[in-house]
Amino acid sequence: MSKLFSDRGFSGSIKITPKEFSQLRDIIYDLSGIFLQDNRKFLVENRFAPRLSELQINSYTDYINFLKYDPKGKIEEFNLLTELITTNETSFFRDNPQLKAFRDYTLRELIDLGNKTGRREIKIWSAGCSSGEEPYTLSIIIHEMLKNDLSKWRIRITANDISNNVLEMAKKGIYTKYSLRTTPEEFISKYFVEKDNEIFEIKPEIKRLVTFGKINLNQDRSVNLVPKSHVVFCRNVIIYFDKEMKKKVLTGFYNNLVKEGHLYVGHSESLHLITDGFKAKQHVGTISYRKI
Ligand SMILES: C[S@@+](CC[C@H](N)C(=O)[O-])C[C@H]1O[C@@H](n2cnc3c(N)ncnc32)[C@H](O)[C@@H]1O
Repeated sequence: MSKLFSDRGFSGSIKITPKEFSQLRDIIYDLSGIFLQDNRKFLVENRFAPRLSELQINSYTDYINFLKYDPKGKIEEFNLLTELITTNETSFFRDNPQLKAFRDYTLRELIDLGNKTGRREIKIWSAGCSSGEEPYTLSIIIHEMLKNDLSKWRIRITANDISNNVLEMAKKGIYTKYSLRTTPEEFISKYFVEKDNEIFEIKPEIKRLVTFGKINLNQDRSVNLVPKSHVVFCRNVIIYFDKEMKKKVLTGFYNNLVKEGHLYVGHSESLHLITDGFKAKQHVGTISYRKI
């Protein structure tokens, strides 16, 4: 009989026990800082079913032992695990009020200061950049702001994620129409080349400002290597972390930011009760933060 039809049934229907869920949750938390709430059991069973079937493993206990003790499995499996547990939902020009605040407040101020002092340099960190839509959006906004003056500036956008898959997509810079669902038409025609029916490639001048790399926000040593930033974007990432991990990640941002540096988190995310190292500023329809 095929392993798929073992006494625990088809792998897709292998149920995770509360004990197994708690063990797997600890492994995932230690790996990434992502904390799975109790109501995520069903999601785990769904997402892990194909992998368990591929490995011909019939229980979560066996899978957990494989993760913990099989030297062959370890590094490769941890990478696969990362792909299974991360949520990579994103789009170009996501959350327009925030991007407006970035353009009209943060960027305006940095440009005015740079022009005044002659130090024309802006460094931005997109932490949890997924497949690149966020850092490329920031690059487009900067192009729109600086226009012909861009050549006078040193702009660097460092874009990181824990997932290899999304970083590969980001480096390619090729997107379907779905990724552009919140992008103004004029920017699509100006900054993308339509390669195929509804397949769009971002132009090289937009790519040029962005450097992609793998970073686990749960690992201080890699976070500490990120160049100091004037602005950190970490949107829709800390929502998956528990309070302790949020504190750790925000300490990393605090240390990374220059004096009075700017921080943007997702519109449903808040720093309340997490850190008092930042001051909130209200804009139309959104909030930004500044290092105190
Ligand atoms: C929902 S996406 C957000 C993408 C983009 N910032 C946005 O708002 O559209 C969250 C991203 O955070 C990444 N992520 C989750 N945990 C991470 C960690 N510990 N270190 C680095 N990236 C992480 C995921 O891989 C995923 O691509």
